[in-house]
Amino acid sequence: MAIRVAVAGAAGRMGQTVCRAVEGADDLELTGRADPALGTAVAEVLPNADVLVDFTVPTSAVANAREALAAGVHVVIGTTGFDPAELTGVKGANVFIAPNFAIGAVLMMQFAVQAARHMAKAEIIELHHDRKLDAPSGTAARTASLIADAAGGGDPPPIHSVRLPGLVAHQEVIFGDVGQTLSIRHDSVDRESFMPGVLLAVRSVGGLTESPVVGLEHLL
Ligand SMILES: NC(=O)c1ccc[n+]([C@@H]2O[C@H](COP(=O)([O-])OP(=O)(O)OC[C@H]3O[C@@H](n4cnc5c(N)ncnc54)[C@H](O)[C@@H]3O)[C@@H](O)[C@H]2O)c1
Repeated sequence: MAIRVAVAGAAGRMGQTVCRAVEGADDLELTGRADPALGTAVAEVLPNADVLVDFTVPTSAVANAREALAAGVHVVIGTTGFDPAELTGVKGANVFIAPNFAIGAVLMMQFAVQAARHMAKAEIIELHHDRKLDAPSGTAARTASLIADAAGGGDPPPIHSVRLPGLVAHQEVIFGDVGQTLSIRHDSVDRESFMPGVLLAVRSVGGLTESPVVGLEHLL
């Protein structure tokens, strides 16, 4: 039986790409597109869904997730700029959240954690298209917190946010130490880069043994 998937934010840049990816997967069925721009509310797509994928805006992701969980529908959230802790302890179904669904970005964060154990200081430059609503990016905020933990506590590294047309999603972590620097950089040049991660999360969210789970690395 195919997993029935509804998409919140279905008219958006990410939502449209997710709808196409779900339609192209043999084991998944796209059963609903929710978006104010399409005149369809999340509540209308939940009865026919096993999983809701949310790529909306920071102010609606938590409410959408709560509505889905109350209906027993699992949730995969790609929206950034909200606090995942707001979904701690909310029962009904499982929640999976990733600030970045690109495998290369997950590796960039893991390599940055390794480097943080050995290099004195770091700064993060994140660069995104100029329609992105939140700054710093969810990926940069998560990288900063992982680096601070790996470095043994202390202040997270500073984050510089660039917003320009022509960009998609890019991040460089620069480490500095005596007489040397190390740069770790990831570039998403197409939103297709996020789709294998999103589909993996859709297939995995129903089997999670805890919820919410944050970060694609937990599914790899
Ligand atoms: N996790 C990742 O890998 C990743 C990758 C890219 C973007 N993002 C994030 O995804 C989100 C969406 O990005 P985008 O570029 O597609 O934005 P977008 O502005 O193109 O699309 C957002 C869509 O959400 C719709 N929307 C607003 N409120 C809604 C609601 N209550 N219910 C349903 N739909 C609603 C809007 O009408 C719009 O069509 C952002 O938070 C962005 O940072 C995450």
